[in-house]
Amino acid sequence: MVVPDSEDNVFYPPIDLQQDAHVPNFNSYLELYKKSIESPEAFWKDVADEFFWKKPATGPILQYNFDVTKGNIFVKCLEGAKTNICYNVLDRHVKDGNLGDKVAYYWEGNSPDHHSEITYNQLLSQVCRCANVLKKMGVQKGDRVSIYLPMVPELVYSMLACARIGAVHSVVFAGFSSESLCERIVDAQSSVLITADGVYRGEKLINLKQIVDEALEKCKERGCSSVTKCLVVKHQALRTKSGAACNKLQTPWDPSCDVFWDDAMRDSSDQCEPEWMDSEDPLFILYTSGSTGKPKGVLHTVAGYLLYTYLTFKYVFDYRHGDVFWCTADIGWITGHSYITYGPLANGATSVLFEGIPTYPHVGRLWEIIQKYKVTKFYTAPTAIRLLMKYGREPLQKYDLSSLQILGSVGEPINPDAWLWYHSVVGQGQCPVVDTFWQTETGGHVLTPLPAATPLKPGSATFPFFGVEPTILNEHGEELEGEAEGYLVFRRPWPGIMRALYKNQERFENTYFKKFPGFYVTGDGCRRDKDGYYWITGRIDDMLNVSGHLLSTSEVEGALTEHPGVAEAAVVGRPHQVKGECLHCFVSLKGSTEFNHSLVQELKTLVREKIGPIATPDFIQNAPALPKTRSGKILRRILRQIARNDRDLGDLSTLADPKVVEQLFNQRNEGSA
Ligand code: WT7
Repeated sequence: MVVPDSEDNVFYPPIDLQQDAHVPNFNSYLELYKKSIESPEAFWKDVADEFFWKKPATGPILQYNFDVTKGNIFVKCLEGAKTNICYNVLDRHVKDGNLGDKVAYYWEGNSPDHHSEITYNQLLSQVCRCANVLKKMGVQKGDRVSIYLPMVPELVYSMLACARIGAVHSVVFAGFSSESLCERIVDAQSSVLITADGVYRGEKLINLKQIVDEALEKCKERGCSSVTKCLVVKHQALRTKSGAACNKLQTPWDPSCDVFWDDAMRDSSDQCEPEWMDSEDPLFILYTSGSTGKPKGVLHTVAGYLLYTYLTFKYVFDYRHGDVFWCTADIGWITGHSYITYGPLANGATSVLFEGIPTYPHVGRLWEIIQKYKVTKFYTAPTAIRLLMKYGREPLQKYDLSSLQILGSVGEPINPDAWLWYHSVVGQGQCPVVDTFWQTETGGHVLTPLPAATPLKPGSATFPFFGVEPTILNEHGEELEGEAEGYLVFRRPWPGIMRALYKNQERFENTYFKKFPGFYVTGDGCRRDKDGYYWITGRIDDMLNVSGHLLSTSEVEGALTEHPGVAEAAVVGRPHQVKGECLHCFVSLKGSTEFNHSLVQELKTLVREKIGPIATPDFIQNAPALPKTRSGKILRRILRQIARNDRDLGDLSTLADPKVVEQLFNQRNEGSA
């Protein structure tokens, strides 16, 4: 790693931020990095010492095998230790840290009329009550609880309540369809489901309970009746001021299974002894798209995840007491798990919990909230930045954003244009932009700048976090030194890396460890420049990144081919100004089916219903034939070029019938936008 000598487009950390920062300059980053790699034991011991351990570890900080040729893949952190993550992120602050009256969350609803403050004391008491409710429903250590909630405080209460009693939470993003929810319940065999009656997204009212009931119905059709209780939060936006229900929704109700959150919580005690967990006991499952279609249940465990989310939050956002942190992600994604729930709470931080969307009731909504709560550290996705860029500076100029100190980006490569706008317009040139690269699987940031230490290059996630050892490999698995481009892999684990795919060791090993024995394979391409900076070049598997969310092309293809008129479908990504990437679908129709507007609408609806609105195709193109090799393999490279209208095709000799390509180019605009 070399610091660039003053070049164009390199942004050095502001001097006043450097003065009392945790990692104040590049040399101190290098020193700490060296320690984390050469003496991981000593490095992580200092971190572990900040937490409460019911029983100390008997094993080393990390034990692992990353080499499939030598046996099963495994990672263990602090073997033998006993602790509870809920105790560490709540009780510890209240008891020893005197943070009981500190605000843990400023909750801001979809409508500016709805907001509340939750202190650490209140949070602890709500979590204990909820934990007792779950126990009463029969939930025991190791049982799975599915959570399908919008961004309301009860979502955090539920997760921490599970963690407190040793249940494994599986949060499902409340924008997913009943089909997706069902699939995730069946895989986890959850015994309890926590949801809400409904939620407003912008002006749209969504009947969540109805989606839940459809999902449970589908579960039963597939022989899964694991869910015995459904705990239902009545959303504030669906009550009158006095708290009574108002009749905006028909909430389907089955008294043998459904329990109203308030009724259950009313008589529940706010004292609950935490379950002391082994360091490697499971904490949660979070499903992420997989390239074979079926989502993968990424499993994280207690101790390593605690250490890693704590430390990345502290260093990457240079956390100090007094900060107001705001991560705009939904908790249904890993970003929310690590940087709304666990990382900030482990640090005793104050966060904003925002339920709404950036454009409702007006396009200055995010800036208004930054002003309202004097947000100091702000963390969002490039897709949101690109969306808001379109409205220019004016919506920002109405608000005072001078509280901001650090800006973060996550979810997809950030294009330099968006980076520069974020830096100069949102941050007024005063705030470093930390472009954090990571994955559901990594648990926390793995490539990232440290705001006071790392000279920034717009578009680069810069350097590895402590304990992380990246390498770039070529097709043959050879390590590339210096300036290079290839597969991004990691040579060793860090405490927060996933431990398994839930009940599927084989898929775990095949997906991440088989291609290059000895390495964890991210699935991303990466370039290292002459100064040692890492630049993510995008996915190199069959995954697409739409608005920062990974989608599996084969999952969308599977949904399309469920239509009786579709014989074959192939889906590729194509650049999109706001979403980064969007879906371009090629469909080959069966004999008599006609390609027309209503078919296109049917297909779009089908995908929405099967997967969720985020997967809605932007383009659907009629493809009487697809470009295939003589052995019948679809050449996606060519489809990507057709989607982009890039005619620089190169060698087509492997194609069975090259005429197909010209045909598809000509019909490109007959599709649907
Ligand atoms: C994939 C992981 C990690 C939280 C959100 C997504 C892409 C993520 C960056 C970044 C370039 C990025 C990668 C990665 N990605 N952050 N800063 N620069 N690409 O979690 O759904 O597990 O997706 O998102 O392709 O593999 P996820």
